[in-house]
Amino acid sequence: PSSSPTAMRRILPADLVERGGCPFDPPPGLLARRGQGPVQSLPLLNGAGAWLVTGFEEARTVLSDARFSADQVRHREATSLQPHEVAELAAGTLKPGPAVESREDGFFVFMDPPEHTRIRRLLTGQFTVRRMRELEDRVTEIAVEHIEAMKAAGDKADLVPAFALPLPSLVICELLGVDYADRAEFQERTAIGLNANSTDEERAASGLELYAFMQRLVADKRANPADDLLSGLAHDADPPLTDAQLVDVALVLLGAGHETTANMLGLGTFALLENPDQLAALQADPALIDNAVEELLRYLSIIQLGVSRVTTEPVTLGGVDLPAGATVVIATPEVNRDAQQWPDADRFDVHRPRTPHLAFGHGVHQCLGQQLARIEMQIGLRELITRLPGLRMTVPAEKVPLRNEMLIFGVHSLPVTW
Ligand code: HEM
Repeated sequence: PSSSPTAMRRILPADLVERGGCPFDPPPGLLARRGQGPVQSLPLLNGAGAWLVTGFEEARTVLSDARFSADQVRHREATSLQPHEVAELAAGTLKPGPAVESREDGFFVFMDPPEHTRIRRLLTGQFTVRRMRELEDRVTEIAVEHIEAMKAAGDKADLVPAFALPLPSLVICELLGVDYADRAEFQERTAIGLNANSTDEERAASGLELYAFMQRLVADKRANPADDLLSGLAHDADPPLTDAQLVDVALVLLGAGHETTANMLGLGTFALLENPDQLAALQADPALIDNAVEELLRYLSIIQLGVSRVTTEPVTLGGVDLPAGATVVIATPEVNRDAQQWPDADRFDVHRPRTPHLAFGHGVHQCLGQQLARIEMQIGLRELITRLPGLRMTVPAEKVPLRNEMLIFGVHSLPVTW
């Protein structure tokens, strides 16, 4: 696609995406905008205008109403505009993207139905609640192995490389059939792509290398099928996917499986350690873990401003008139703290009754991996706090390096002892 979430991230005002005082609260620029309505104008750093959605109901509308498109090839996001096009957008004369007959790529995250439906349908059967429940024993084994390895190596560790990253990484590699030994190559390239500070040259080079890595993988699955998800897609997809589409689908799955849950495990543990009453409640009653995970997802909203759409026609949203071609950015950290939806929404409370949140999005693009992510978080956090009951940090909270330059928020490291 001509645009990408990272491109969007780079032209958002820094105070809307970089967290300040409390690393668990929405960035200061979002807090400062409270009280200004559920749909607000959003000036971008490239000079183009967009809209920011902070209301829960309005965000659900954007994500479930077909007038808001995810197709970033046919409908251009304000992020991808050249300087002269920024002026055309302001004047209302900007043409939509090219008239593409049918999408040949496999980036289904950036497609609308029915093109999106076709690829998504091939995958939903693989990510069912039942299939994911079958993975529970393996997830538990991986979690326990990593915690026991930490204990065997001493009494201190950095929780990110020792636990939070390898757990989801191993699971998605096994599920897809990617050799875990190759993960470093993959992870480094992905991190460059998702880092707002990397240069265009670095991004282009790492993108090409990542693509070549996936091409080799797909060729291998076509030639030597095994009992894994990518082999299944390479051989049983009906209608079949082209090699190029399969490469794109694999890139989406592997990327989404690595960068998300890992950050929820790291930042989630940090939040629990900084809220000892909540941690104690969970240790006293581990059955609260499912609740605690939903609350962490809501409270931490690591995707930040990563979900956006473009209007295909004029729409009135939250009392605001949006023209056709308007870029709409969901402010997930604020949406998940909507005071009309949750009493005392800024409080982290593991006893809070479960209510729908938007951490996994909503509508046709709602997170495909959410059951997997839930299982990894539930099992990972449960094993961590029961096997390491004395878990605590070895540095003050303000010394923990935050992922403020990354598309998906979290911590770079979390030094702990037990
Ligand atoms: C989509 C969040 C874990 C795969 C999404 C979306 C969100 C999200 C907000 C919607 C994007 C949009 O509407 O534009 C998260 C969070 C996770 C997580 C917070 C962890 C806590 C995972 C995992 C996978 C995954 C483990 C594993 C494969 C996907 C895919 C999509 C998606 C493939 C695109 C679905 C579509 O467009 O139909 N995720 N995700 N996610 N997620 Fe996740």
